[in-house]
Amino acid sequence: MTARLSADFLIIGSGIAGLRAAVELASHGRVLVLTKSDPRAGSTGYAQGGIAAAVGPDDSPALHAADTLRAGDGLCDERAVDVLVTEGAAYVRELIDWGAAFDRRADGSLDLAREGAHSVRRVLHAHDATGREIARVLAARLAGLPRVEVRDHAVVVQAIVEDGGVAGVRFFDRDGTLTEARATATLVATGGAGQVYRETTNPEVASGDGVALAYLAGARVTDLEFVQFHPTVLAVPGAPRYLLSEALRGEGARLVNEAGEPFMTRYEPEGDLASRDRVSRAMLRESARTGAPVYLSLAHLPADVVRERFPVIADLCRRVGLDLATDRLPVSPAAHYAMGGVATDLDGRTSLPGLFAAGEAACTGVHGANRLASNSLLEGLVFGGRAGRAMQGATTDAWPAPVTRAIPAPPPSSPEPVSIGISEAALRDLMWTDAAVFRDRAGLQHAADTLAPLRAELERALAEGAGLTPETWRLGSLLTVGSLIVAAALRREESRGAHWRTDFPAREGRWKTHTGFTRSREDREEN
Ligand code: FAD
Ligand code: SIN
Repeated sequence: MTARLSADFLIIGSGIAGLRAAVELASHGRVLVLTKSDPRAGSTGYAQGGIAAAVGPDDSPALHAADTLRAGDGLCDERAVDVLVTEGAAYVRELIDWGAAFDRRADGSLDLAREGAHSVRRVLHAHDATGREIARVLAARLAGLPRVEVRDHAVVVQAIVEDGGVAGVRFFDRDGTLTEARATATLVATGGAGQVYRETTNPEVASGDGVALAYLAGARVTDLEFVQFHPTVLAVPGAPRYLLSEALRGEGARLVNEAGEPFMTRYEPEGDLASRDRVSRAMLRESARTGAPVYLSLAHLPADVVRERFPVIADLCRRVGLDLATDRLPVSPAAHYAMGGVATDLDGRTSLPGLFAAGEAACTGVHGANRLASNSLLEGLVFGGRAGRAMQGATTDAWPAPVTRAIPAPPPSSPEPVSIGISEAALRDLMWTDAAVFRDRAGLQHAADTLAPLRAELERALAEGAGLTPETWRLGSLLTVGSLIVAAALRREESRGAHWRTDFPAREGRWKTHTGFTRSREDREEN
């Protein structure tokens, strides 16, 4: 039997974007936040380096915009960048007013860090656990508000599409009960999709659910080929892929080869602090040239300063028997961030009435082809807030007739469970082999030939009323998003930002455009 709930506003996800939106909505109606695991399980809680904002004396929104646009490699939406950098500082100051304890210097000024491709120090941080601190502050802000309910271990598996708009979602509650939750406005704030790849920094919950469910409901998704691979991920066989923050290089850490030689300037004039996509490619090239791993080294820096500034990372290294301050740390790129996502306007509106998106699951266009370090927390904060404000005015009055082919809404737990012809491990291996840092037509075509028929079969089965469980939903989501990443990467015959085609190594003016998909057609659209 299906249980039923209603609220004024639904938020899927309890990371920075979802929580910031909830704060905005709390005095305008009943807010139900659905989050599929522990509320702190998303990427926000893992964010290390910090949050970028133009608050330093030598900084300005114009400078922050220039760095963001350069990293985005010609594909940022300039209006979105303008919103991010001009509103960003005020949103961050508000966090400080609410109690965020960012590190400060002895004179009380903010201790701003440097990260790759930033021209000045602009990253606020709480040691190396910035996301945890921000989540703490937002959760505390919500805790006293009576009209906000956060329901954990609630796995959202489907949007309810009615009369051409989204009227709510279906989810599996903690005890496995299938529940319908209805609201005037629903926000997808489900974070990233790093789990699509075998090698990733992302937590278990980052399986692209928001992109998959929005796409299946008929919303437009865009720029999915742009996946950021973070260069410095601890690569110890058999150990988890712990992130070694870019802030380490901001404080002087160097990438070295097996012989202990720094090598980055051989590939990139900006050396160790080039943008992430460039550093990742240079590392793989150096590794191929020498036939050996590459390492991050902090051994030339004062050990006590390193351990004091980066306690979380020092602890992660210790867990695998390494000393952050003195050992050479084997590193390799891993999937870290999705620049693409559910297409939105500057207020989080998607192409479907009633459905909004913010944070990593959304694509405002702010990151273009490659995100600037520490701009993601800022994006979640600013655009989460803006989406929350826009949702206040949502109404079902003027929904148009349906224009897309949404999957009808059968009860997801019907007796015939959907079956997906690939295992999660095989899918993640395939994506890593064929659609990661270096791509070409042969690999992408191989991945497309494997995944596209499975996605078509999944969509057909769902449309015919096959059932879902939380587990089959996870695999279905990984398949949907993985297959869309591959389709977009195959289509973009150039190299730009994080998308590198060895068979099309040049950046091409004709590709200064976005790829996008809706279920009614597969389209390529101009800027
Ligand atoms: P998340 O924080 O990932 O939250 C998503 C939420 O959605 C979670 O609560 C999840 O459980 C929930 N969810 C997902 N699917 C469902 C479903 N089907 N049903 C219900 N709930 C669901 N960025 C920076 O700017 N600075 C940094 O220093 C930084 N460091 C990082 C370090 C690591 C290790 C990682 C992985 C990322 C880092 N990033 C950093 C990126 C940044 O943390 C994320 O992009 C950002 O936190 C995303 O916020 P979000 O609110 O969109 O999603
Ligand atoms: C890091 O600390 O290197 C991650 C920062 C980010 O993803 O922006």
